Amino acid sequence: MRNRRGKNSREGGLSGTKILLVVTGGIAAYKSALLVRLLKCGGSEVRVVMSAAATEFVTPLTFEILSENPVSISMFARRERPVVEHVELSKWADRVVVAPATADIIAKAALGVADEIASTVLLSARAPVMFAPAMNEAMWANPAVRRNIETLVSDGKIILDPGSGALACGDVGPGRMAEPEDIVRALEASFAPGDLAGIRVLVTAGRTEEEIDPVRYITNRSSGRMGFAIAREARARGAHVTLVHGPVDVPAPRVDAIERVATAAEMKAAVTKAFARCDVCVMAAAVSDFTPVRRRAGKIKRAGKSFELELRSTEDILSSLGKRKEGRIVVGFALETENGEANATRKAREKGCDYMVLNAPGKKTGFSAPTNQITLFKERKKLFATPLISKDEAAVLILDAVAADGRLKRFRR
Ligand SMILES: Cc1cc2nc3c(=O)[nH]c(=O)nc-3n(C[C@H](O)[C@H](O)[C@H](O)COP(=O)(O)O)c2cc1C
Repeated sequence: MRNRRGKNSREGGLSGTKILLVVTGGIAAYKSALLVRLLKCGGSEVRVVMSAAATEFVTPLTFEILSENPVSISMFARRERPVVEHVELSKWADRVVVAPATADIIAKAALGVADEIASTVLLSARAPVMFAPAMNEAMWANPAVRRNIETLVSDGKIILDPGSGALACGDVGPGRMAEPEDIVRALEASFAPGDLAGIRVLVTAGRTEEEIDPVRYITNRSSGRMGFAIAREARARGAHVTLVHGPVDVPAPRVDAIERVATAAEMKAAVTKAFARCDVCVMAAAVSDFTPVRRRAGKIKRAGKSFELELRSTEDILSSLGKRKEGRIVVGFALETENGEANATRKAREKGCDYMVLNAPGKKTGFSAPTNQITLFKERKKLFATPLISKDEAAVLILDAVAADGRLKRFRR
């Protein structure tokens, strides 16, 4: 596969980079010793700051020897040179990584508390900051932690989500710190400008729900997986991603802006607004084609042998965007049960789509499965058809085609 991170990516990753590692007080601190080894082997210079709690788990000596640098454990320690150490470290670093990141340091960073060396370094950081949270799964699920994580994301911090599995406390669930190798990969990616850097991508995902009465609605089987895979991949390639999604079965990826909607009309309003600020629009949502003419205020009672429900067509969002795209690149999805290729190319033409992704409903394809089989058209030309692949792989291939589109040049900022 092409190097989708673009020509400028540093082959081999981290050579010559300066990484400031902030270790806080969790069992996973022992994994950060390996992280330092990997960073040093990759050519990074590493300096380490430890919270007081972190020193209860691993000694500063371990990090001192591995990093080949003194370790900072106190804001007020006497130094050989008169320096304000937290400011000096913050200026020095190309990237700051908090690993493990306790619930406590996450809360302090979200609030802007600066009461000891670890939190003060984070508040004065000028470089991008990554957090690798590690904690018991109940702590990770706690609404206070969720709120603090959301705050950090909206402040532009990068969160490396913890993995799931057996935790040191004996519980099982999400909370295990990202593996050191994954943290290194995330750091490498952060230094490599992606091939969608500077491009604003709008992605829609999921289904819509059209209410019949207070308890019933019309919907479809879309899980949100395909759109989420595209949003995640676009962000990994450096795009600024706005995601508009309806009800879904899976957690949404971290993106730059997110709007949740329920009905086709809400989807239309949100997408129309976001479209004005995008360069590329990928419409992977399965928007209902029909909605009840009238929503009943009360629950419809069973009466007689049959019941007629009058539906009207919803507005065709893709068509309306295609008509006013003014140079933007629009990618549509077609889910067809018959005459797939003919219908997909006709739809692309009629709706003004630059690319059309054809997929078919099936047990392993289309709406709810984690896999898909896609055929991609650029206007009328068939670019490729895949075998059964994961939706993540399908997202890579779709964005490879978009990223190679010469028209993208004019949007790069
Ligand atoms: C044995 C033990 C293990 C702990 N593991 C974690 C952990 O994995 N994640 C976490 O958020 N807190 C953990 N804690 C609690 C933190 O150490 C505590 O909240 C501390 O105040 C964190 O300080 P710091 O954020 O300044 O490092 C643990 C405490 C103990 C005693």
